[in-house]
Amino acid sequence: MKAALYRTTGDAAEVIRLEDVERPEPGAGEVRVRLHVSGVNPTDWKARTGATPRPIQGFQIPHHDGAGEIDAVGEGVPEERLGERVWVWLAAAGRPWGTAAQWTVVPAAQATPLPAGASYELGACLGVPALTAHRCLFADGPLSGRDVLVTGGAGAVGHFAIELARWGGARVAATVSGEAKAELARRAGADLVVNYREPGAQAELRRFSSRFARIVEVNLAANLQMDLGLAGPDTVVVAYAADLEDPVLPVRACMSVNLVMRFVLLYGVARPALEEAAAVVHRALADNAVTELPIVRFPLDRCAEAQEAVRSGVTGKVVLEIP
Ligand SMILES: NC(=O)c1ccc[n+]([C@@H]2O[C@H](COP(=O)([O-])OP(=O)(O)OC[C@H]3O[C@@H](n4cnc5c(N)ncnc54)[C@H](OP(=O)(O)O)[C@@H]3O)[C@@H](O)[C@H]2O)c1
Repeated sequence: MKAALYRTTGDAAEVIRLEDVERPEPGAGEVRVRLHVSGVNPTDWKARTGATPRPIQGFQIPHHDGAGEIDAVGEGVPEERLGERVWVWLAAAGRPWGTAAQWTVVPAAQATPLPAGASYELGACLGVPALTAHRCLFADGPLSGRDVLVTGGAGAVGHFAIELARWGGARVAATVSGEAKAELARRAGADLVVNYREPGAQAELRRFSSRFARIVEVNLAANLQMDLGLAGPDTVVVAYAADLEDPVLPVRACMSVNLVMRFVLLYGVARPALEEAAAVVHRALADNAVTELPIVRFPLDRCAEAQEAVRSGVTGKVVLEIP
């Protein structure tokens, strides 16, 4: 099969190659998926640079997320799953079979049914960001009738956080850096969208709610002061990204608002919680509550450029089209 892969970490253009490798067979409890679309996330390029070191066993086909249909099942997996349209998640976690290839094999639970109305492109964009958004929102309980702030509401995680929070019955405010992203956050369903670069952003968010149940935080280092100004004893600030230097924790200010913080890293979330998150995202999909961001497409043989586009912070979701 054709696969984009790397054998050592390094710069995308230097280490990612399109190669022919033997098509994998599903082991016990696994399914094989004929992929149509591979979704690219920041974690994929970070792993490929070696910034988040993971052992490579011979080669690594990158990308956790993808969508296609099941064309082979391993021992113990019902044959009724053959032909099922699915979205796969965490395909490359501790395994060489990422989704930048014509086929992948994953444990059967990591191939979640894709409802008839959902495109392969949408399916390929869900895994890492939607599961992360679910964990950030719901690890501390339901949100019906509660208020949620999503910082970076036009990012991939932010987008699904807005949609899942709305679907879960919350009122949602989002922050963005400009009008094009504001439009995306509004389209996702945010009740209030604020440009965090403009003066008065925090005051506007305060007028929207004095009782945020969650602040889903993409940039704790930049936003900690704002979050402290918006948090109260009912607020859980949930940080899921660490792109800047670590913030200094102002302990008295945190005590003053009885701050609760949660940190989320998908790789460390327990399996039952991941499977529950996938099931919830599936239900939201079936309710048409989950939509695509603008899609930026690359062919499989331009995998390196696709990863560079994600690294440069392109607006929307980058995908590979699989031949
Ligand atoms: N912990 C986990 O398991 C996990 C899972 C998924 C992703 N992540 C990490 O989370 C980060 C985002 O991932 P993603 O796929 O959502 O990336 P993305 O699609 O590029 O979105 C990131 C968004 O954050 C916004 N942003 C940056 N600084 C901001 C600030 N101070 N306030 C508000 N928004 C801000 C960016 O827009 P502007 O710069 O225009 O504001 C951008 O829209 C990455 O670092 C990724 O590695 C972690």
